[in-house]
Amino acid sequence: MIDGGNRLEGEVVISGAKNSALPIIASTILNSNQVEITNCPDIHDVSIMFDILETLGCKVHKDKSSVRIDASNLNGFEIPENLMHEMRSSVIIVGAMLGRMKKCVFTYPGGCEIGARPINIHLEGFKQLGVSIVETQGKITCECEKLFGADITLDFPSVGATENLMLASCLADGITYIRNVAREPEIKDLQDFLNEMGAKIVGAGSNTIVVNGVKELHEASHTVIPDRIEAGTYLCMAVATRGNVLLKNVIPEHLASTIHKLRQIGAKVETKKDMISIRMINEILPVNIKTMPYPGFPTDMQSQFASLLTVSSGTSIIVETIFENRFKYVNELIRMGANITIEGRSAIIQGVEKLNGANVEMRDLRGGAGLVIAGLMASGTSEISGISFLERGYENFIKKLQLIGAKINKK
Ligand code: EPZ
Repeated sequence: MIDGGNRLEGEVVISGAKNSALPIIASTILNSNQVEITNCPDIHDVSIMFDILETLGCKVHKDKSSVRIDASNLNGFEIPENLMHEMRSSVIIVGAMLGRMKKCVFTYPGGCEIGARPINIHLEGFKQLGVSIVETQGKITCECEKLFGADITLDFPSVGATENLMLASCLADGITYIRNVAREPEIKDLQDFLNEMGAKIVGAGSNTIVVNGVKELHEASHTVIPDRIEAGTYLCMAVATRGNVLLKNVIPEHLASTIHKLRQIGAKVETKKDMISIRMINEILPVNIKTMPYPGFPTDMQSQFASLLTVSSGTSIIVETIFENRFKYVNELIRMGANITIEGRSAIIQGVEKLNGANVEMRDLRGGAGLVIAGLMASGTSEISGISFLERGYENFIKKLQLIGAKINKK
């Protein structure tokens, strides 16, 4: 339940990044020694990853935002279908499992339905490392005697495929080149963690990653980077309510394209080492946005900006180039009085005077965040259902918002 129109003011401490913690937790399977991960967000997707590790024989000790993982007694190589179905990132386990056990049995991953989300690039890369892949009745069995270094070029800079091939080639025989890779900050964070465990990887952040296979890994500890998408979401909420908010524990460089668009909208944004302050006084100006792989504008910020632009002083166009079905939230915004037309992969947003509170439903994680932004802006009360989507990726969402003045609560 949100009572809209309340100005947000105060400080928000950003949590660890979901999209970094998930591949890092998955990669601990490569290691038969203990590891410690700190700044790990307490969100639903992370607990699913822990559940998968425990079913495979790992021990997981959580203490607030730090976790110790012991994968010395790994005893399985089949990922339970129900857990695979719950979350897209479960597919990252496959690369780690191949590295450690040379075998993995799994089904197609689930997760937010924002597009077809095939895994062909992952499987194509595994084949080049010497993995045989058999699919029977929806079950995929990947196995090999040994993994061999290879020269792999990705058809698209897929985040998941880049991570999976980094994991699978860590313990391979020889050197692996992975070209046209994703350059997201989460890839660099994964490389840093793997190297802290004794891997030999260079190139994260560029378009080619080189993995020099090693025999084994050792104990390590790592602090997960801050969540740039959580940070971007709170910045949009501050703008939505003409607020004045300071974000702490954030890496401003990771939000360069988001901050650029916020300034174009008319927000005053200042950055310091690990802080971002934002103030919004004037009307929201229209902007055009095209989602792109990093360092381009993140697709995970698309719906939050769409909400803001529903009340801009003109017409904005958002082009979604990464996922083919990521406008599910639009009908809900239209129920709140927005004027949006969808043409193929573009949303044409005609700014209106104001939004009205309404009963709306979340259909995925980031679309859900967009609806909360609309609820904070709207006049009157909004009832937003489906918040389990939000709890997948935002830690202590309601509490953090209440602390900066939002009239929001769970019913
Ligand atoms: C990661 O998903 C993120 N998830 C997503 O965030 C994010 O939207 C996405 O990268 C793009 O930035 C995590 O990191 C856990 P991709 P991923 O593989 O790895 C196509 C959120 O809200 N593709 O880079 O699944 C695919 O269909 C989530 O936090 C293939 O065709 O994304 C898509 O159109 C949502 N074949 C495009 O590439 C493949 O084998 C990008 O997908 C793999 C991908």
